[in-house]
Amino acid sequence: MNVPEFIRRKREGEALTPDEIKEFIDGYVAGNVPEYQVSAFLMAVFFKGMTPEEAAAFTRSMLESGDRFDLSDIEGPKVDKHSTGGVGDKVSMILAPLMAAADCIVPMVSGRGLGHTGGTLDKLDSIPGYKWNLNEKDFKKVLGKVGCAIIGQTDNFVPADKQLYSLRDVTATVESVPLICGSILSKKVASGVEALVMDVKCGSGAFMENEERANELARNLVEIGTALGKPVSAIITQMNQPLGIAVGNALEMRETIDILKGHGPSDAREITLVLCAEMLCLAKKAANPVEAHAKLSHLLDSGAALDKFKHWMEAQGGDPDIIDKPSLLEVSDETDVVEASRAGYVQSVMTRDIGVACNTLGGGRMKKTDEVDLTVGLLIHKKPGDKVEKGEPLATLHHRGGKGLEDAKKLTANAYRLGEAAPAEELKSVIGEMRAR
Ligand code: URA
Repeated sequence: MNVPEFIRRKREGEALTPDEIKEFIDGYVAGNVPEYQVSAFLMAVFFKGMTPEEAAAFTRSMLESGDRFDLSDIEGPKVDKHSTGGVGDKVSMILAPLMAAADCIVPMVSGRGLGHTGGTLDKLDSIPGYKWNLNEKDFKKVLGKVGCAIIGQTDNFVPADKQLYSLRDVTATVESVPLICGSILSKKVASGVEALVMDVKCGSGAFMENEERANELARNLVEIGTALGKPVSAIITQMNQPLGIAVGNALEMRETIDILKGHGPSDAREITLVLCAEMLCLAKKAANPVEAHAKLSHLLDSGAALDKFKHWMEAQGGDPDIIDKPSLLEVSDETDVVEASRAGYVQSVMTRDIGVACNTLGGGRMKKTDEVDLTVGLLIHKKPGDKVEKGEPLATLHHRGGKGLEDAKKLTANAYRLGEAAPAEELKSVIGEMRAR
């Protein structure tokens, strides 16, 4: 194929045919199209977008680039959730055992951090012994035994996304609706799910910063999911503040355990319950979200979800003692504090910069080959609407030997906008919902 011509046509906003999209993706996966051409293509898509037909063809080509899991021999409804990426988002590690406790099967294939957002696999890496690199057979064994499992992409699992995901991360081409839809839906369909709930994050810490963009992404996810034969619902959730108070890999795992024990920040608990309630309805195990929410709250408060978490850890090699001894999740004890420069109320928190601050401390990647320091991160003490006194801590930064500390402190201090009066409106956890018709 004439790749420069293919890129030029996309650059000029022309629609590409399904066959040429497939040829391009296949060529990339086979190593015949170099990354500099793929990067140029991604940037052209970023600026010119794709038609619904192109986006569906792009998703299908990615799906067909590798293996698909067959979960038909495992009993129970296979439902999953996927987030479009946020800051402090530890929902998956609470949701998977909670849904398993509600007799659903949650076959999660997760990824690394992308841009300023955290990644589930990096968080799981902070658990001593946890193995996310299971093959299909062992993945299915854990699913059959526990009801949930979280793994990384196996060698031949949507290789097109495996390659594109890390390339997008370092070429500033993440925030594109068709690229996000292709990435997420190809993996979810390949993982063998029957129904999917999308957590579309909206706000300064999300890839979609306003409601219009978040609605556009939600609509595309629901429509492309439907075109691929899967019922998809989208819940648009708040990302104008970090979710919960912990940002950083081991810190977030500690908070996960807190929430599974019935404690922890209410926003992270509530968003998890809303997403789970939608999943339970799609799995036809509840008549409506209200009934589902009540059932799931009980499973969380009774310790049933925590019990599942323990079994899940045992099945994937993770040390279950982290439940009673969260200090086994190693967090750096070197800390510094960002204080309020004046008294007043927090008007807003530029949440993206909190994610970037975490990366700057070493908690995320700036380039593909960077090692992540799982022990660093931030604890957020003040969120929008909170009253602060001059000199009160806004956030505590856990760092390693001062690496990135000065920049991370600046980013955190500048992320906060303080004002005289409390903001007129409280931030809602759930901003909107979209379902297939
Ligand atoms: N999550 C994904 O898996 N892919 C994206 O493109 C964004 C979030």
